[in-house]
Amino acid sequence: MTAWQARAEPESRCPAQRGTRVEPRVILVPDIIIKDEFVVLRGFMADHTLEDIISFAKRRGFVYQTSAIYGGLANSYDYGPAGAELLRNIRNLWWREMITKRSDMVGLDSQILLHPQTWVASGHVASFTDPLVEDKLTHNRYRADHVIEVWLKGHPEKQASIVIENLNTAQMSAFITDNNIKSPEGNDITPPKDFNILFETAIGAVSGQKDVAYLRGETAQGIFTNFKNILDSTRVKLPFGVGQIGKSFRNEITTGQFVFRTLEFEQGEIEYFFDPEESNWEDLFKSWQDSMWKFVTGTLRIREDHLRWRRHTDQERSHYSKDTYDLEYQYPFGWKELWGIAYRTDYDLKQHQEHSGVGLEYTHPQTGKKFLPHVIEPAVGINRLFLMILADALTVSGDRTVLKLSPELAPSTAAVFPLLANKPELVDKARGVFNLLLGHGLKTAWDDRGNIGKRYLSQDEIGTPYAITIDFDTMKDDTVTLRDRDTAGQKRVKIGDIINTIHQS
Ligand code: GAP
Repeated sequence: MTAWQARAEPESRCPAQRGTRVEPRVILVPDIIIKDEFVVLRGFMADHTLEDIISFAKRRGFVYQTSAIYGGLANSYDYGPAGAELLRNIRNLWWREMITKRSDMVGLDSQILLHPQTWVASGHVASFTDPLVEDKLTHNRYRADHVIEVWLKGHPEKQASIVIENLNTAQMSAFITDNNIKSPEGNDITPPKDFNILFETAIGAVSGQKDVAYLRGETAQGIFTNFKNILDSTRVKLPFGVGQIGKSFRNEITTGQFVFRTLEFEQGEIEYFFDPEESNWEDLFKSWQDSMWKFVTGTLRIREDHLRWRRHTDQERSHYSKDTYDLEYQYPFGWKELWGIAYRTDYDLKQHQEHSGVGLEYTHPQTGKKFLPHVIEPAVGINRLFLMILADALTVSGDRTVLKLSPELAPSTAAVFPLLANKPELVDKARGVFNLLLGHGLKTAWDDRGNIGKRYLSQDEIGTPYAITIDFDTMKDDTVTLRDRDTAGQKRVKIGDIINTIHQS
């Protein structure tokens, strides 16, 4: 058992030294789980509860429970029309800021299914594990550290005596026994076991000739396995980074944290390669921390007082990592990891070189020195960015709900309304304005249903920064009403000036 397994919030699931294989169990849930699990909503001050956010996200087409018509699937969600746009905008901004705008970065799009040896070399097959306990009566399964975390919230007198992050499985087991800790259902639980969260699948059309394969547990390994390809096919030179966005899969035990912790999720990962003799890792690490902070507070406009850095303790840090920090956000269920950054040294390249027998060394262009570069890895969950953005932007005042998204994130930049849907001249004029905005690349919504006030409120809720109404005055003087989402202020603007006005706001 290594330290990472014992964290209260062990997101950095680098492979530990050993793991016990437990058969995964699919948990079917009747509806989006919002209260039955025990990690959520315990004593934190936040603007909104997780229930508020879940119900808002469903009502306005951001997130739906997956396959709800069949009763749903635990820890699995679909993104609706508004959510799909928001997710896409997050991805695009991450790619733009982390890759496109930097001359020292290149992108990659590797497979979800890699050669199975990849996961042996990386250590995931042996030990990509979480500590699992089982309710002896209901057979529901939970993460041991989460059970302890919740128990501690009800026993503040014990909190000073224990740091969950520092407990290994044996110590967790002892703590559970000593304190007679029960499952969330109040029943006895089994001692913690190491549960491998790597998703296994099989390749092969012919029965009996199947080969085990794994859905990737992190996108990072595709970067390491392509390191030589990138060196050979591009003109990169150290220090440089490779970034990619893509789906990863983990057989998560804990349910009830909405899109924060899902079986299938998207990661935006960067491996930043450097020569440790030429670059100071601490400087690079700090500079990546600055980029992460700037992205979250600047590009995504998240409130700084909802963010903090937390350094991993020696016990919880991955065995390959020399230093790890989490950028944490204050989610409705407490401070949790949003974005991790680790100094992974040359651990992964070394492992892949040994297991594949292929040389992965970099040759210094001037000196000819051959060596395995070291890496700094900033790794974020796109869905965690998504949940953070919803939680931060959701503003309720009286009967008005406004999603105060930055215009770059908003599912639509503008909405166009003909004042009356049964006046063809207004509808035609409005269609012209709609097409004008689309022609300028602005994602534009159309709404001709109900009264104008309700249409404004509806667009406020999904974060559309501008609403444009075409009325009878438009027919006379070619002006429209341009309404600002945040102030609800309105002004008349010439149709020919709409684009500039939006761009300048
Ligand atoms: N390559 C390093 C790595 O995968 P990690 O901390 O396990 O490190 C990186 O994962 C990020 O991926 C986390 O900071 C988190 O934002 C996101 N993440 C991890 N597990 C997740 C899950 N089950 N659901 C949603 N996001 C997850």
